[in-house]
Amino acid sequence: GNAKVHLYELMRKHTTMLVGGPAQFWVEPLTHNCFARVVRYCRERGIPVRVLGRGSNLLVRDGGIRGVVIHPSKGVFGEVVVEGDTIIAGAGVRFKKLASVAQKAGLTGFEWMEGIPGNVGGGLRMNAGAMGTETFDQVVEVTFLDEDGEIRTRNRDEIKAFYRNVPELRRSFALSARFIGSASNHGTIQQKMETSMGKRRSSQPLAASAGCIFKNPELMPAGMLVDTLGFKDSSVGKARVSLEHGNFIVNDGKASAQDVLGLIDQIRTKAKQEKSVELETEVQI
Ligand code: EPU
Repeated sequence: GNAKVHLYELMRKHTTMLVGGPAQFWVEPLTHNCFARVVRYCRERGIPVRVLGRGSNLLVRDGGIRGVVIHPSKGVFGEVVVEGDTIIAGAGVRFKKLASVAQKAGLTGFEWMEGIPGNVGGGLRMNAGAMGTETFDQVVEVTFLDEDGEIRTRNRDEIKAFYRNVPELRRSFALSARFIGSASNHGTIQQKMETSMGKRRSSQPLAASAGCIFKNPELMPAGMLVDTLGFKDSSVGKARVSLEHGNFIVNDGKASAQDVLGLIDQIRTKAKQEKSVELETEVQI
């Protein structure tokens, strides 16, 4: 009664890249306990279990996903509560929503989140960032389901967060988090949000994508590198390197995951051959 379950749910309906085959079992829990029960059930039986939020940083293969995919989005996972200068948000809350709740509450610090296409759960997992700020810069505490199937809350300083990677949240799943901002006036917040929006609109594509494909290597930003290597507008099947930004692959038709992977492979190979750079994907595959 605490979850909705679908069989063979197509992942291209749940990823911003609009590619990916079916998940065998698709589960939408409404409570933390239900989420925990599903994970424990799967782990006890050796059934693969994964979590998919907004699917905005994810490339699902055409063959789909074996086992269970948990999608925390409704019920407690969609709740947002403002408490003083902090905001508590469920894993299924969109970053855009957090930004607008913060604006209404007169809290500054959340403006950059307007440009993040994902949900809180995924943003925590990958320490999503933009405009020089990262998710964990604002995290106060995270409530998560740990590897033993227990629900725990941990303070920020007990969690190691790196550039686009929070290793602990690979097998532990974030359920909610408390973020901190500071009091400000609506005009200032509005202005910061518009600046962030403007920068994104002028440099990033609107077409279906998974955001940045590669992590920025030390040599130069990945977008600049892909650009320098001459890949802009080149394609494999229906997947194309964006003209607006070299680190975006856009799906401008009926691209398959295979098309996208083919393009990623070509770019990685050339970056290695010509610049000796090992490009690491930022999207999860
Ligand atoms: N550039 C090029 N050609 C391109 C793209 C970029 O020369 O095709 C140059 C730009 O002119 C600029 C530099 O590369 O000098 C960096 O580009 P940009 O300012 O767009 O930032 P980025 O490092 O490519 C990062 C994040 C983005 C985030 C933006 C804005 C990574 C991998 N990417 O991009 O995050 O939106 O900053 O803050 O860290 C994402 O995580 O999915 C993502 C898109």
